Amino acid sequence: MRPQTRRLTPADRAIGELQLAALVGDSPAIAAIREEIETVADARASVLITGPSGSGKDVVARLLHQKSRRATRPFVALNCAALPADLLESELFGHELGAFTGAVKARVGRFELAHGGTLFLDEVGDMAAAMQAKLLRTLETGVIERVGGMLPITVDVRVVAATSVDLAGAIAAGRFRADLLYRLDVIHIAMPSLAERAEDVPLLVQHFLDTAGHRVRFTSAAMETLAAQAWPGNVRELRNFVERACVHHDGDIIGCDALAALLRRRSALQQRPAPARASAPAPVAAGLLGPDGVDLKRLLADLEEAYIREALAMAGGTIAQSARLLGLQRTTLIEKMRRLQIDGRDDGRDDAAVYRPDDAAINRPAGSTSRSADPAVRPRPAIAPPPGPSRRTAG
Ligand SMILES: Nc1ncnc2c1ncn2[C@@H]1O[C@H](COP(=O)(O)OP(=O)(O)O)[C@@H](O)[C@H]1O
Ligand SMILES: [Mg+2]
Repeated sequence: MRPQTRRLTPADRAIGELQLAALVGDSPAIAAIREEIETVADARASVLITGPSGSGKDVVARLLHQKSRRATRPFVALNCAALPADLLESELFGHELGAFTGAVKARVGRFELAHGGTLFLDEVGDMAAAMQAKLLRTLETGVIERVGGMLPITVDVRVVAATSVDLAGAIAAGRFRADLLYRLDVIHIAMPSLAERAEDVPLLVQHFLDTAGHRVRFTSAAMETLAAQAWPGNVRELRNFVERACVHHDGDIIGCDALAALLRRRSALQQRPAPARASAPAPVAAGLLGPDGVDLKRLLADLEEAYIREALAMAGGTIAQSARLLGLQRTTLIEKMRRLQIDGRDDGRDDAAVYRPDDAAINRPAGSTSRSADPAVRPRPAIAPPPGPSRRTAG
């Protein structure tokens, strides 16, 4: 039997190819991924894209399709985590009339819809176990059967899967089939977190401003501060942050002070728990002191250092702004930093220069070259974030 087609619904289209994907970034990691996409786009072999949420897995999946000979055929996406096994089966393979209660007409599944094109299976690591076996069989034979159907249907589909869960761990825990992993993971693309490519932040910010037509600009100093943030939600979080900044600062140039206010609001919004710092005391209250007493000098020194490092990270290393955040004189902060052997940025830094996309100082920090083939070249923020389990830098 031949695969059938049905009209793509608006929802299908929204996740489909109408949006031209752009993988923005100048870091060696992103340059290497762009190259890999060019190389493997036309292969029929399955691709597995791994990486944390918000790191750009959807973007890569769409690009793989758009760069391939399949680009004129459908790109069909399905989030496997969102559906229980029986619904997922009928979504993927379709069903015949009367296949189950409620199947009042036959429905073409996503595999058939994607015939000639690409099927993107998002969050494949969360796929229900019963479906994993059926998916494996289809990947091995290139044949599907609709639910309640008798005839095998041969489909020509390139499968791209993505996951943000650790599949090796899921296999060890018995939640994911190893044989399915081998089938999916023929070509592997690993998306780095945004923290691993901080140098891409200015380009991404500029890209989000340009594509949304916002007139907001950041100063170079503010852009450096943005690059020094941790971004646990990766590019998605950065994008949302830029959107919010544009709402509050339509038409403005955002400098370090305005940015510090936005970053404070961001951490308040996220309501992240305070980092568990061994030396950080509980809020002033009775019962602070245990039976063994405390080394107060040491505790206060640790606390002071942690606050200074956090302020510097938040201010992109600018001493004047960090001093303001800490309620200290600039000279006092410099003195403390010297004692603690913490580096800072020269103070006379000007927060008026507006960032431009070809601003070499930010795009390509010292020691790195554009599109360097050496993935070890990973520019770091000027100031290391405070020690501790959380990479959070903003207050
Ligand atoms: N390198 C990139 N260049 C441009 N936009 C990106 C990039 N990476 C991610 N984005 C954007 O960030 C958001 C999250 O990316 P997405 O691909 O959905 O992440 P994931 O699928 O890994 O959770 C999307 O709006 C996407 O367009
Ligand atoms: Mg995604």
